[in-house]
Amino acid sequence: MPNIMLPQRPFADTGLSISPIGLGTVKLGRNQGVKYPNRFELPDDKTASDLISQAKALGINFIDTAPAYGISEERLGPLLAGQRHDWVICSKVGEEFNGGVSSFDFTPEHTRRSIERSLKRLHTDCIDMVLVHSDGNDVEIIERYGILGELAELKRQGLIRAFGMSTKTVEGGLLAAAHSDCVMVTYNLNERGEEPVLDYCAANNKGALIKKALASGHIAFNQEPSGHIVTRNKIANKEQPQDPIQKSMDFLFQHPGVSSAIIGTINPEHLTSNVSKAMKALT
Ligand SMILES: NC(=O)c1ccc[n+]([C@@H]2O[C@H](COP(=O)([O-])OP(=O)(O)OC[C@H]3O[C@@H](n4cnc5c(N)ncnc54)[C@H](OP(=O)(O)O)[C@@H]3O)[C@@H](O)[C@H]2O)c1
Repeated sequence: MPNIMLPQRPFADTGLSISPIGLGTVKLGRNQGVKYPNRFELPDDKTASDLISQAKALGINFIDTAPAYGISEERLGPLLAGQRHDWVICSKVGEEFNGGVSSFDFTPEHTRRSIERSLKRLHTDCIDMVLVHSDGNDVEIIERYGILGELAELKRQGLIRAFGMSTKTVEGGLLAAAHSDCVMVTYNLNERGEEPVLDYCAANNKGALIKKALASGHIAFNQEPSGHIVTRNKIANKEQPQDPIQKSMDFLFQHPGVSSAIIGTINPEHLTSNVSKAMKALT
């Protein structure tokens, strides 16, 4: 058993409590059309189950999936058997991924069908958190489809406990946060543009989840998201600490709006090390 354990903290006023690090599960379900630095194989069931047990032992109780993450939801149903109540599950609506291609449907009808399908795949009768999986047109999606209203109705009916949107723009993030429980935004050492959304969440008690906290792994290689390798001089000019993961954790948790950073690792050593560095940043 590891001797480090993350705390769990109230998630806005949803009644949920989540760990400041969440487990992202893209890499449990999909290895096509992803922007990670290295190719990888999907872990087998034993490896995935061990990873989930390890995460739980480290205090992680928050797991993020989506219909767009290939077979991630279908795998999590059986993988979480017998431990459903130990986890806060977040899934999404709006993006589908079939035959290696993404497509989007933000209509209320699709939203309801998608959640009913996720409930079956995840072997549960209520999903803790559901986010709109934006294609980038955040404001249009909210205004044209009334999707946040549909999610509010599904919450009222007890199919989900909390809802929000994974956004890609400041305007969309602010609008989504104003009309839901939470948002998921990109925030890392290389990409800070959505910080005003975090400021809003901190000031208004909204949940804020971070995606791509390590720039999808490029941070670890001192690379920009484009894959451009940062020069030695540029690295030398950066502030201490030089460990890019510790520096990322310090950066993330200095912002009072950050509820949880969802990190998508399938490497057990990275998982323990990330939690340990998050603990250090939080204390
Ligand atoms: N639109 C959306 O809603 C959206 C978009 C993107 C992501 N997300 C969610 O956010 C999660 C995280 O995003 P992400 O996976 O794109 O990015 P991320 O968490 O920034 O990076 C994950 C990558 O970083 C590597 N990594 C993790 N810890 C490391 C360490 N200590 N040292 C070196 N490399 C390390 C992982 O490789 P190893 O497996 O080798 O550790 C993996 O390739 C996803 O899994 C998903 O749940 C949501």
